[in-house]
Amino acid sequence: MNINIEEAKNKFGVVLSEQLSRVEKLKKEDDWIDYSTLDTIIIGMIGGDGIGPTISRETHRILEKLLENQVKSGKVKFVDIEGLTIENRAEKLKSIPDDVLAEIMNCNVTLKGPTHTPEKGDGWPNIESANVAMRKELDLFANVRPVRIPAEGIDWTFFRENTEDLYAVGSQGIDVTSDLAIDFRVITSQGSERIIDAAFAHAQKTGKSKVTVVTKANVVKTTDGKFLEIANDVASRYPEIKWDSWYIDIMTAKLLDKKRRNEFEVLVLPNLYGDILTDEAAEIQGGVGTAGSANIGKKFSMFEAIHGSAPRMVEEGRDIYADPSSLIRAGAMMLDHLGFNVEAAKLHKAVEVCGMYEKKVIMTGRSDGASSRDFGDYLIDTTFDSNLDNKWQEYISKL
Ligand code: IPM
Ligand code: MG
Repeated sequence: MNINIEEAKNKFGVVLSEQLSRVEKLKKEDDWIDYSTLDTIIIGMIGGDGIGPTISRETHRILEKLLENQVKSGKVKFVDIEGLTIENRAEKLKSIPDDVLAEIMNCNVTLKGPTHTPEKGDGWPNIESANVAMRKELDLFANVRPVRIPAEGIDWTFFRENTEDLYAVGSQGIDVTSDLAIDFRVITSQGSERIIDAAFAHAQKTGKSKVTVVTKANVVKTTDGKFLEIANDVASRYPEIKWDSWYIDIMTAKLLDKKRRNEFEVLVLPNLYGDILTDEAAEIQGGVGTAGSANIGKKFSMFEAIHGSAPRMVEEGRDIYADPSSLIRAGAMMLDHLGFNVEAAKLHKAVEVCGMYEKKVIMTGRSDGASSRDFGDYLIDTTFDSNLDNKWQEYISKL
């Protein structure tokens, strides 16, 4: 038994020194990249696996068309990045193979199709999730997930911390004995500060009045306690923004409380709580397929669908019927992030008109519904329809 304890202590020592050097890196953070100063913005399109390549193809088509002029002038360049498939990752035994990572780091932003996340016993080697690895490698610390239901006055923006918490060393837990398994939860001052500050800065910039901080600091005293303490400090720098603190359990319940839920505006929370709460919020909006997700860092950013790679659809030959809306929404968020706000607004409107209002093309995920290609065509036509604004106004007025 002693031997196991010593081994476990050594492994824990390794985790601690890795995290301490990470903290040192965080202390020397760079400034935010300014895309307007770049000669060329390189956008990497990562197909991923499962239904990824299908929905990515449709997203690529619409983005190329929207940015036609910028591509012609050389301001924007699209590159395709292959090899972030589960087959290639399993063969190389790496969550992001080295050559793929190099290609990704050559881009300013990427739009990523879903990638299968292996779990113990599913037949694939139990490598770390490609999403999680990319968030850590590129230091994409802010997972920004907006959820809007205009008819109910709901306009939530979640700022989920994206590099720490149970995810930071989620693949480095220790089986101390066959009965005792230990994982580690990492929360740093620097990591908390930057995500909480991003949430407050967003509230300030967008004219929101309140930030809600979500933890379980009454029970998880050390790590969540730190997160809450830092929130207190950051909030004092934004006296005009109100803030409150909720525990994750009651917060989860309150998102279902129709009388209260539209009082929440910007929410900031550690990684795992954010993972869970944003799925709930997306479901309230109309399903996880309706939401996009932005992974923002100071130098790189990655945009992705909030859902998984749906291997079952591929096995059953239904991948051609996969709904690209979530990835296209992520594409619109990317356009906004890059400063192409006019194009982004068009795309947001077109996705809403096609998917929630006009619904001329209906997808069911099966052969009795439209294919991804049909939906892509419909979306392109709608985006470039000179009547788009009117249609969208009609949609909004009927809510
Ligand atoms: C998400 C996903 C990922 C996560 C998985 C695929 C690792 O659920 O982006 O929310 O847990 O972060
Ligand atoms: Mg999730």
